[in-house]
Amino acid sequence: TAEPLVMGIESSCDETGIGIVRGTELLTNTVSSSMAEHVRFGGVIPEIASRAHLEAFVPAVRAALDDAGVTLDQLDAIAVTSGPGLAGALMVGVAAAKALAVATGKPLYAINHLVAHVGVGLLDDRGELPDGLGALLVSGGHTEILAVPDITSDVRLLGATIDDAAGEAYDKVARLLGLSYPGGPAIDKAAKDGDPTAFAFPRGLTAGKYMGSAENPGPHRYDMSFSGLKTAVARVVEAFDAAGQPVPVADVAASFQESVVDVIARKTVLACTEHGITTLLMGGGVAANSRLREVVTARCGEHGIPVVIPPLSLCTDNGAMVAALGSRLVSQRRQPTGISFTADPGLPV
Ligand code: KG4
Ligand code: ZN
Repeated sequence: TAEPLVMGIESSCDETGIGIVRGTELLTNTVSSSMAEHVRFGGVIPEIASRAHLEAFVPAVRAALDDAGVTLDQLDAIAVTSGPGLAGALMVGVAAAKALAVATGKPLYAINHLVAHVGVGLLDDRGELPDGLGALLVSGGHTEILAVPDITSDVRLLGATIDDAAGEAYDKVARLLGLSYPGGPAIDKAAKDGDPTAFAFPRGLTAGKYMGSAENPGPHRYDMSFSGLKTAVARVVEAFDAAGQPVPVADVAASFQESVVDVIARKTVLACTEHGITTLLMGGGVAANSRLREVVTARCGEHGIPVVIPPLSLCTDNGAMVAALGSRLVSQRRQPTGISFTADPGLPV
C-alpha cells in the first residue's frame, strides 16, 4: 500500500510551518517566521504573531505544495498543531486547517505540539523510533523531559520547568547584559570568551529536599527552575552598575550558561537512567546551544545513552514534525479528529 501523503500545519508561536511528508519521507518543510517583527519588543507579541500567521498561511501552503511537487487533491490527510502554545496563534492555524480540510474533503488530525517535536525522530533513515526513547525539549516556550514508550499512545511527562522556559531565561539574561534578542545565540557566543566558574550561580531545584532519592523521589526530582538564576544574574549586574564598573559580560554569560546546562543535563540524566530511557532525542531552539549539546551528549554517554540531535530546521518549530506524526496516525488507521475540536493553549502531553 502507498505511504500516506500528509500536510502538517504548525502555528503555536511565531513560526508558520507547513511540512509535507510521504510516509516517513520529508518532502518539504517551509517555515515563515514573524521573529523580525518581535525583535524590537524583546519577546514574541501574541497579537503580532497571530496576524502574521494569517498573512503567511496561504502563501506558505502554496510554496510547500510547489516545493513538494504535489497538489492539495493528492493529500491523504491534513494534520495541525492544536496545542500547547499561544491561544491566538494556535487558533489561526486550527481555523485554517479546518477550512482546508472542509474545502478538500480530507481527514483532519489534531496534533500535540510537544509530541510532534519527538515525531521528528520518525523522519530519519530508519523511519522508526528506537525502543526506550526519551526526549529533552528546550525552547523559548517549553522545557520538558519526556519518556516515549509509544509515540501515538503513550508519552509521559517526567519533568518540566516550574517557571521560565530555558530559552526564555537566555532571552531575559541577554537583555540584562545588553545583548541582542533572541538572546540564546548571543549568550552562546559571548560565553565562549568567558570563565564559566567566575560566578557561582544557583542550580535551581537541585537541593536535597526537591530531589529526594530514586526510591523516594522529592517533589521536583526531574523538574527545573530558571527564574532564581535570572534574579541572581540581575543582582550581579546591579552590583557592577552600582560600583560604576563595567559588567564582565563574557564571564557572566559563561557562568549563567554553565548553570542552565548543568541543571538540564543533571535532571535529564537522572530521568533517563531511572526510567529506562536508552536513547535521547533533543528538540527545541535551545538544542542549538553548543555547550548544552556538548554536556548532555557527554553525560548521557557516560551511561551509554546516545543523544540524537536532528538538524536545527527540525528542532525549531516546524510543520514537518506535525506532518510526520499525522502520517503515523494515518498509517495506524487512527480515527481522524474531525473538525469539532478547538485549539488548547494548555494541552498536556
Ligand atoms: O524553538 P524556538 O525557535 O522557538 C520557540 O521558543 O518555540 O526557540 C527559540 C529559543 C529562544 O529563546 C532562543 O534564545 C533560543 O531558543 N536559542 C538558543 C540558541 N539558539 C536559540 N538558546 C541558547 N543557545 C543557542 N545557541
Ligand atoms: Zn516547540
